[in-house]
Amino acid sequence: MTNKNRIQKPDSDSIRSAADLLRDGNIVSFPTETVYGLGADAKNGKAVAKIFAAKNRPDFNPLIVHLPDPSAAENYVHMNDVAKKLASAFWPGPFTMVLPLNEESGISDLITAGLDTVAIRVPANEVAHQLLKEFDGPIAAPSANKSGHISPTTANHVDGEFGDELEIIIDGGPCNKGIESTIIQITDHDVVLLRPGSITPEDIKNKTGIDVISSLTPTDNPVAPGQLKSHYAPNAKVRLNATGPNDGEAFLAFGETAHHENMLNLSPTGDLEEAASNLFSMMRELDDLELKTIAVSPIPQNGLGIAINDRLSRAAAPKE
Ligand code: TXA
Ligand code: MG
Repeated sequence: MTNKNRIQKPDSDSIRSAADLLRDGNIVSFPTETVYGLGADAKNGKAVAKIFAAKNRPDFNPLIVHLPDPSAAENYVHMNDVAKKLASAFWPGPFTMVLPLNEESGISDLITAGLDTVAIRVPANEVAHQLLKEFDGPIAAPSANKSGHISPTTANHVDGEFGDELEIIIDGGPCNKGIESTIIQITDHDVVLLRPGSITPEDIKNKTGIDVISSLTPTDNPVAPGQLKSHYAPNAKVRLNATGPNDGEAFLAFGETAHHENMLNLSPTGDLEEAASNLFSMMRELDDLELKTIAVSPIPQNGLGIAINDRLSRAAAPKE
């Protein structure tokens, strides 16, 4: 496909094709008022894994879930009065709230990185809104750039990053904000700034009277991205690069494997996207068996395997 076909003006045809691609488990790029997003169906783990693969992300940091309007949020998260007040003040807009996950949400745990919270945003960009309406579901979207590169604010930037890797980039013109959304975490006790953006703590105070603090009170668990403790860690010990389980061990296999007791297979065919999408739920399931150790097959250290191995080595690190 040439560039010209890939970059499409927003109209009912391009919006419909993008929504169809999302439904089929593909990734697409679309504009928001902050930066261009690389979107996938937030309920489809394999589709979400494609975001990490395309970005070459070496880890599984949690992603933001985009919704068409504020009223959709309560299908996915629990909102206390503070969250509701902030939603009505700043949604739609460049404003993301990290909220307690609703157990029934159906959101892939690759998005939450196994946390029991999820980041939600209702973008103000009209094209993003149309795509979200047409898709009629939650869209996970980090900025549409390769890991470590600058966030894209035009369709051409996105094209320069991904070329043939994307089938469609909806061109909504340059993003007017150009920096990522403000991220706020809402807990029972606190309203915490996790990532500064164009909506400042002063704006929040002025508009709602709510005080935003810069770190959690000690009663809460640390949540900053990338922090070891913020990610799900199993209670069991994790033994990496295991060719099979020892007596009494649970086994997390990868690729063609003989049957063992207490075994789950991340991907019998050795597909890294499938493995990524199963990683958190299978670790949880094996951990729930309450065996002392989970042995894990070696995972190839390429493509998404790098992110999978990063998570596994954190899970295997000695606990404090
Ligand atoms: O402006 C934006 O927010 C753009 C556009 C495309 O909407 N999106 C964006 O998404 O920046 P993303 O996925 O790159 O932002 C992810 C960041 C994580 O690095 C982390 O800081 C925070 O959101 N985050 C997501 N879920 C979280 C959670 N459950 N707890 C704490 N932080 C979370
Ligand atoms: Mg980014």
